[in-house]
Amino acid sequence: MNTDKIGFLDSGFGGITVLSEALRQLPQENYIYYADIEHVPYGTKTKEEVREYVFRAVEFLVKQGIKALVVACNTATSIAVRELRGMYDFPILGMEPAVKPAVRNGNGKRVLVLATALTLREEKFHNLVQRVDQEHVVDYLPFPELVEMAENMIFDYDSIVPVIKSKLEGFNLENYKTFVLGCTHFPIYRDAFKKVLPSFVDIIDGSEGTIRYLKRLLEERQLISTNADGGKVVFFDSGIRIQNQERLKTFKWLISNC
Ligand code: SIN
Repeated sequence: MNTDKIGFLDSGFGGITVLSEALRQLPQENYIYYADIEHVPYGTKTKEEVREYVFRAVEFLVKQGIKALVVACNTATSIAVRELRGMYDFPILGMEPAVKPAVRNGNGKRVLVLATALTLREEKFHNLVQRVDQEHVVDYLPFPELVEMAENMIFDYDSIVPVIKSKLEGFNLENYKTFVLGCTHFPIYRDAFKKVLPSFVDIIDGSEGTIRYLKRLLEERQLISTNADGGKVVFFDSGIRIQNQERLKTFKWLISNC
């Protein structure tokens, strides 16, 4: 079996924000992107449900032939990545809310982590905060509305900006230095956040670090491709090759704009 591709997995469009970083850092690689639209959103499901969906998706990707896997979804990562690493030999990377760099960036000022309710409920997240937040500056907020909007292909400022404004209504934004986008869907709306937040607030996510780590692992294991014909992506919706032109256009538009 040809196993020269890198698999990407997300509940829907969110993982594209990570894939586009991979295409920047690793343009010689080829990719398979699995969007689990049959089960999106993951963030409102039970742990057991998400675990089952992720395992099914990974099984499918393995059958296609992959040499590495990026679980490009914070919720799926917190539920399943550890177990997956025990099952497969190839490198498996996940997403983690960038809380550590955010705390470092803040210099004592507050950090707001935005993610799905399930990510924020998980022990993995609370352990992470406990480890890095000595000064108790980290607040967090579930923001499932943004996942829903992305999956409904609502990307215009006029629709998004009021939703962000109303979600942050109770927060004194003057107290914050860093916002963490802890769901891969949220960087789609980075520019909309910039319109709402004071200019001194930095907005960060984990994509760049995850892909840098992927590159290092591929190099260490001599899996890195020298393909001159790289940069191709095949898209699947819950195991079905995407033929719908509108949807393919949205995937490609997000790759160029995230
Ligand atoms: C979702 O499907 O609810 C979003 C998943 C995530 O990136 O955390």
